[in-house]
Amino acid sequence: MHSQLITFLGLLSLASSAPPNRPHHQPSNIKCPVIFDGHVLRNQTLSTFDTTASPYSPTYVKGENLTWSSILLLPNTSHSRFDTPSRHKPLEVTINDASLFRPGGGNLQIGFRRAGLLLKDDKNDIGADPADSGVVTFHWSIRQDSARPLNLSHEYMNVWHERADYVGNQFTFVGGVVLKVDGGTGEDTKEERESWKVQGRGNDIVFRAPILFDQWQNFAVQLDYVNDTLQVFYSKGNEKLKAGTEKLKNDNSGGGQLQLGIAKKPTETNTVVFDGYQESIRGSEGQIYGGVFVEDSSNGCLSV
Ligand SMILES: *[C@@H]1O[C@H](CO)[C@@H](O)[C@H](O)[C@H]1NC(C)=O
Ligand SMILES: *[C@@H]1O[C@H](CO)[C@@H](O)[C@H](O)[C@H]1NC(C)=O
Ligand SMILES: *[C@@H]1O[C@H](CO)[C@@H](O)[C@H](O)[C@H]1NC(C)=O
Ligand SMILES: *[C@@H]1O[C@H](CO)[C@@H](O)[C@H](O)[C@H]1NC(C)=O
Ligand SMILES: *[C@@H]1O[C@H](CO)[C@@H](O)[C@H](O)[C@H]1NC(C)=O
Repeated sequence: MHSQLITFLGLLSLASSAPPNRPHHQPSNIKCPVIFDGHVLRNQTLSTFDTTASPYSPTYVKGENLTWSSILLLPNTSHSRFDTPSRHKPLEVTINDASLFRPGGGNLQIGFRRAGLLLKDDKNDIGADPADSGVVTFHWSIRQDSARPLNLSHEYMNVWHERADYVGNQFTFVGGVVLKVDGGTGEDTKEERESWKVQGRGNDIVFRAPILFDQWQNFAVQLDYVNDTLQVFYSKGNEKLKAGTEKLKNDNSGGGQLQLGIAKKPTETNTVVFDGYQESIRGSEGQIYGGVFVEDSSNGCLSV
């Protein structure tokens, strides 16, 4: 297994050598067919996100009565590894005390503070969209905003692929103190607060990385729907992605959708969704995203 992994990564680094840099045509680190493209174009403005010109759903998943243009920011920060500076720019998702979501016809989810982006062509279905079959790699990069820090004593569910039945996720990317009911220790230690975790379908933590407060961090999760495996890739700054796990057995059935943004969970909670403690947020909390895309890895292709 180990030697297979090394060979696999060796092939990848050959495949990803960049083409020569030409003026007006900056090379991209994306080498595989893109299924869903979440990049923000340089000419897009905040109001774009309230319209169907947005790469994301203008409708979901956000505070009742809020618009995406009031939730999102276009921060003036460096570009991430999978953004091309001449074409793309980063996006920041924020939450505040009004980030209360009410699912259609349901009760207000007062346990969460949440704002979650859905790629607009990613359907909540089982196997009918191309990100739910074959081998698919979900990519995102993140950066912290020192003016809008997260309170990492809470669990932050920031990226996940949620099953079509909404009963669970094939994988979940979380930061901060993971609640016991979500597979964590619930222990508010510095190490637990200041680490990112990737969880598999059963909420088992399969990968950890420290939260870096001064640079980009790049993550990719590959789901093989044929062989039911999950593999995590990671790098910091502008480094190439490296395997963070081997291919791990994971039940990838159930279809569904990728969601990314912030879902801040309560502490001292029973139901997580409808009760618990949330301190009043001073101003807002933010999470900066860049280089969001979903690629087809069916032919062994992976952008690193
Ligand atoms: C924004 O730029 C893209 C190409 O990068 C172009 O296709 C699109 O038409 C532009 N949109 C506007 C509103 O100018
Ligand atoms: C949204 O607006 C409606 C109508 O004003 C109000 O009843 C409801 O409480 C608001 N929701 C939130 C979360 O503030
Ligand atoms: C963004 O930051 C760069 C570098 O710090 C600076 O040169 C530029 O003026 C800033 N732009 C805006 C719109 O703040
Ligand atoms: C962070 O969250 C914890 C747990 O809810 C809370 O006790 C603490 O007051 C919060 N810190 C800030 C700065 O709001
Ligand atoms: C899936 O498993 C089969 C049988 O073990 C193997 O031949 C194939 O290479 C695997 N596919 C991938 C993408 O790993």
